[in-house]
Amino acid sequence: MDYEGNSWIWDGVSYSSHLFGGLMLTAALLGLSSSYFGGIGVPSLPYSWSGLGVFDKKRGGKRRVRVYMDGCFDLMHYGHANALRQAKSLGDELIVGLVSDEEILANKGPPVLSMEERLALVSGLKWVDEVIPDAPYAITEQFMNRLFHEYKVDYIIHGDDPCLLPDGTDAYAVAKKAGRYKQIKRTEGVSSTDIVGRILSSLGDTKVCKDYNGADARPEEGSQLKGAHLAHFLPTSRRIVQFSNGKGPGPNARIVYIDGAFDLFHAGHVEILKRARQLGDFLLVGVHTDETVSEHRGSHYPIMQLHERSLSVLACRFVDEVIIGAPWEITSDMITTFNISLVVHGTVAEKSQNCDIDPYKVPKTKGIFRILDSPKEVTTTSVAQRIMANHEAYKKRNAKKATSEKKYYEEKKYVSGD
Ligand SMILES: *[C@@H]1O[C@H](CO)[C@@H](O)[C@H](O)[C@H]1NC(C)=O
Repeated sequence: MDYEGNSWIWDGVSYSSHLFGGLMLTAALLGLSSSYFGGIGVPSLPYSWSGLGVFDKKRGGKRRVRVYMDGCFDLMHYGHANALRQAKSLGDELIVGLVSDEEILANKGPPVLSMEERLALVSGLKWVDEVIPDAPYAITEQFMNRLFHEYKVDYIIHGDDPCLLPDGTDAYAVAKKAGRYKQIKRTEGVSSTDIVGRILSSLGDTKVCKDYNGADARPEEGSQLKGAHLAHFLPTSRRIVQFSNGKGPGPNARIVYIDGAFDLFHAGHVEILKRARQLGDFLLVGVHTDETVSEHRGSHYPIMQLHERSLSVLACRFVDEVIIGAPWEITSDMITTFNISLVVHGTVAEKSQNCDIDPYKVPKTKGIFRILDSPKEVTTTSVAQRIMANHEAYKKRNAKKATSEKKYYEEKKYVSGD
């Protein structure tokens, strides 16, 4: 059940095709354009990029256990990643059902991230083997049967929060009765609602588009509110271990280094990490400290704390190792210590307000620095901007959700499991 080595990702085109359910699908991982699945109704096919190798490894001829978990995965965070990690640990292959934009709009209001972005984020997680991009918002009996028969799912996994249908009945009753339901413990301390709250409270009345360079932020009020929102977040060393690959670089490995804030981990991050990883054998990611991020981006950043940002980066399948609290400037000593062969930086990185020192001076002098084209325009600021643009709608939606979440925390009991 361990996460298989991901070397297959780099084996040319072999990752892009996979025999599944009698269909040969070609889905270039993360290279999916929106038009690829723009035709609603067509994509009932799962996008699968698992290397054939993974599926060939039948253990003692035993069929591999397939588990399914669904969600909107809007404003994807490490809590989602952790839920999927837990789900994966209950089987051998994890199939994720992604709720469509239309269903989210109808049930919760406008999603912050598009299907394309959510798909990139979910498929970028190292525990995910397949994605079904048109899962219903509330699971139906009909869809459950499709999962069992068409997708050969053995177990449906859901968190410990109750999931009721509009008529008040348990959404998973059928699966439970059939003995094909398993539960995981909800990740403490984070939710999309909470993150939206953080963005609204820290960026609230300021104009996001220009103020990350300005001094007009309200650091005191902002940090107070932030403090209140972080009340549930308790980073543990065990969680970091669970997210880690636990492997160092192999002999003669070419080590690539990329650093950044990786705040509000988004599809652009996944894409740049993928490109960086392809330039070597081992990707080392430096995540800047909260102080460094504040200093360079403005006092109301980062939205996510260092440990939260590190977990999001660690959950990405293209990442091998993370430096939790990397220095702003890359020193010669660092390059030697980690045997870094190449330092890369994306083109869509956010501007820094303290430009007097070039953090990449040393690698540039050594001739081991490279600029990578970022294929996506999305940045932390642009995600935050989308939320700000829909401020009122989100505020309303948020107040409603925050109430039910408060209730969840108040009534929460200890649930075993990790
Ligand atoms: C350091 O990296 C280079 C590749 O750039 C590799 O050839 C060399 O073996 C590495 N050194 C060690 C001690 O692993």
